[in-house]
Amino acid sequence: MCNTPLHAFLAALPKAEHHMHLEGSLEPELLFELAAKNRITLPLSSDAAFASPASLRARYEAFQNLDDFLGYYYIGMSVLVDAADFEALAYAYFAKAASQGVRHAEVFFDPQAHTDRGVELATIVGSVRKAQDRAEADFGLSSELIMCLLRHLPLSSALETFKHANDAGYFKDGTLAAIGMDSSEKPFPPPLWKDLFAAAEGLGIRRTIHAGEEGPPLYVTQSLDVLHAQRIDHGVRALTEGDDALVARLVASKTLLTMCPISNVKLNCIPSIAAFPLRRLIETGVRFSINSDDPAYFGGYILENYCALQDVFDLSVREWETIAKGSIAGSWCSEERKAQLFLEIDDVVHAYVMENEEQ
Ligand code: HPA
Ligand code: ZN
Repeated sequence: MCNTPLHAFLAALPKAEHHMHLEGSLEPELLFELAAKNRITLPLSSDAAFASPASLRARYEAFQNLDDFLGYYYIGMSVLVDAADFEALAYAYFAKAASQGVRHAEVFFDPQAHTDRGVELATIVGSVRKAQDRAEADFGLSSELIMCLLRHLPLSSALETFKHANDAGYFKDGTLAAIGMDSSEKPFPPPLWKDLFAAAEGLGIRRTIHAGEEGPPLYVTQSLDVLHAQRIDHGVRALTEGDDALVARLVASKTLLTMCPISNVKLNCIPSIAAFPLRRLIETGVRFSINSDDPAYFGGYILENYCALQDVFDLSVREWETIAKGSIAGSWCSEERKAQLFLEIDDVVHAYVMENEEQ
């Protein structure tokens, strides 16, 4: 828990999360439990960090960069094998998110990292769907699933996975809300994925991409120009280093940047939370949301990210209201759901203001 006077308000504030990799919510304890259950050998002989959940957690404190993290991320997810594993993982995230005031979540998964190990796409999406339905019933939490393709694999693999999902009707029936693109960034500039994004655009499928995390602001520009991406995941370097024209373009197009402050610090994309470009985001009017990215690896879910920012930037209740509403506005849910969530935010802000005026 943070020490800011706004902690209770930030916890209660209805939130939308748009940048959370389901595989990145695999806590070390569950990782070890599933490894034992599924008889997966963790690489202890080459990496002592795999001795225990505690030693693994300690290693997570020392990521050098994105690729260093991704090495652990892909080993970790190799313990996910059957439908029950995926459902347990997703439900655990939704329960935690709901406990922190998340009312709408749009979560990523990386199908290629599972199908390459023999797990069927239908097994993954079917079990995640069950967790989504349970979260809706248990917490009133709405959610969408975004299929991310891996940048470190060839375009042909991404196209094949996309075709498989589309042929199965997952975009038409709403099982999948969008495609995304993640994994190692710098060696794989956005234009490499032109054919994939053109195919999705041609079918009217929504598109988002990780860009401007370790890659330069140019990757954000290319994502808009070449890929016609409608959302940018991270985009932090567009704000820390991008010129005014790029920022003005993001503002004018209302492109949502799904930002992840703790992740950015843990992967050495920025030196500290104080270097997170929160003021520039607010002052220029860029649409953005605050997210956890890979909470089990970076040591913070969405509320810890809100609190980390509040500790340093000391925002007002009105500024948080604007951020929360911006994140709802940028969500891929129905207008009806958005209207409902705007009202929920109004209620929480109103209650806070009334309580504090009375004192
Ligand atoms: N960046 C790129 N790929 C990822 C990330 C990230 O932050 N998290 C999980 N896969
Ligand atoms: Zn991410």
